[in-house]
Amino acid sequence: MEKLVSSWSKDKPVPESYIFPPETRPGNLIVPTCKTIPVIDLCNAEGRNRTDIVQQILKASQEYGFFQVVNHGISENLMNESMDVFNELFEMPDEDKVHQWRDNLRHPCHPLQDCIKHWPQKPIRYREVVAALSIEAKKLGLRILELVSEGLGLESGYFGNKLSEALHLFVNHYPPCPDPSLTLGITKHCDPNLLTILHQGDVHGLQIFNNEEWIGVEPLPNAFVVNIGNQLQIISNNKLKSGEHRVVTNSRVARTTAAFFIAPSEDSIIEPAISLVGEASVYRAFEYKDFLLDYLSHMGNNEVVLGRFESQSLNNGTECLPPVRCNV
Ligand code: OGA
Ligand code: NI
Repeated sequence: MEKLVSSWSKDKPVPESYIFPPETRPGNLIVPTCKTIPVIDLCNAEGRNRTDIVQQILKASQEYGFFQVVNHGISENLMNESMDVFNELFEMPDEDKVHQWRDNLRHPCHPLQDCIKHWPQKPIRYREVVAALSIEAKKLGLRILELVSEGLGLESGYFGNKLSEALHLFVNHYPPCPDPSLTLGITKHCDPNLLTILHQGDVHGLQIFNNEEWIGVEPLPNAFVVNIGNQLQIISNNKLKSGEHRVVTNSRVARTTAAFFIAPSEDSIIEPAISLVGEASVYRAFEYKDFLLDYLSHMGNNEVVLGRFESQSLNNGTECLPPVRCNV
C-alpha cells in the first residue's frame, strides 16, 4: 500500500518525486482576490426568483464553468458534521487504515443500498452522515441541472435518468506542505462527468483557470462549489464550458474536501442536444465509458480529450493508447 502523504509529510522537505516541472509549478501563490466566481443564492429558485437564477447560472456556466451556491437547502449541521467525519477519516492511526485508503478516498454512492456496505466502517458515523449528505448532494445537483436545462431551452428533466444516474464521492485530503510553491494537490484538469458539487470546507486551495489566469475560489460558509463537467459542455454543444481547475497546497493547515461527481451511466450515449446543434454539431455521439478511457489515458488534458470527440476529428478513437496514471 502506498503510504499516505499525511503519514510522512510532517517536518520534511518536499521530496524530489513530488516537485512539479517548473512550467506547471504554482510558484508564486498569490492569486487575485478581487476576482472571484459568482455566488448564486438559490432561495426561491423554484418560485419567484426562478428566471433570474436561471440566467445567473447560465452566465456563470458560460463564463467560468464554475459558481458557488448558498441557501441551497442542505443544513449547516449536515455540512459541518460530514466535514468532521471526512477529517476524522484522515486523522485515524495507520493501523486503522484499510487497504484502499489513500489521501484520496473514492467510492460510488448510488444505488445507496448496494454500495453503502463497501464504505468505510470507521469513523463510526461515516456511513450514516455520508449517506445523508450524498442523498442531499444528488438532489441539489438535479435541481441545478433542471435550472441549467431551462436556461438552455431544453425540456424539463432533460438531464434526469441515465445522464445523471451515477454518483461518485471523492474525499480529498491535502496535508500541509513544507513548500507549496513546488507542488500541487491536483494538477490542472476538467472533471469528466456531468456536474460536480464540492464541499470545500473553510481552507483555500481550489483555483480555476479563466482568461489565462488563475483565480482562487473563496471558501464561503455553508456554500457548495458547483462546476460544469465535460459531458455538460458536450451536450450543450459548447454553450457551457467545463472550467479547468487545480488545487494548491499550503504550509499551515490540512485541507479536506468532498467532491460529488454526478455522471452518466457508463453505457449512456452522449451527444449534443439536437436543439442546440444549430449549424453544426461540435461533437460526435459516443458512449460515456469510451470518454472515460480516453480521459484517463490523457491525464485529463482537456483540449486533447475533447478534441478526440469532435465531429471533425480525424481520429475515430480506435487508436490504442497506453494507460497512464491520473490523479482525478
Ligand atoms: C476534484 C477536484 C477540488 C478540491 O476532486 O476533481 O477538483 O478542492 N477537487 O479538492
Ligand atoms: Ni476536479
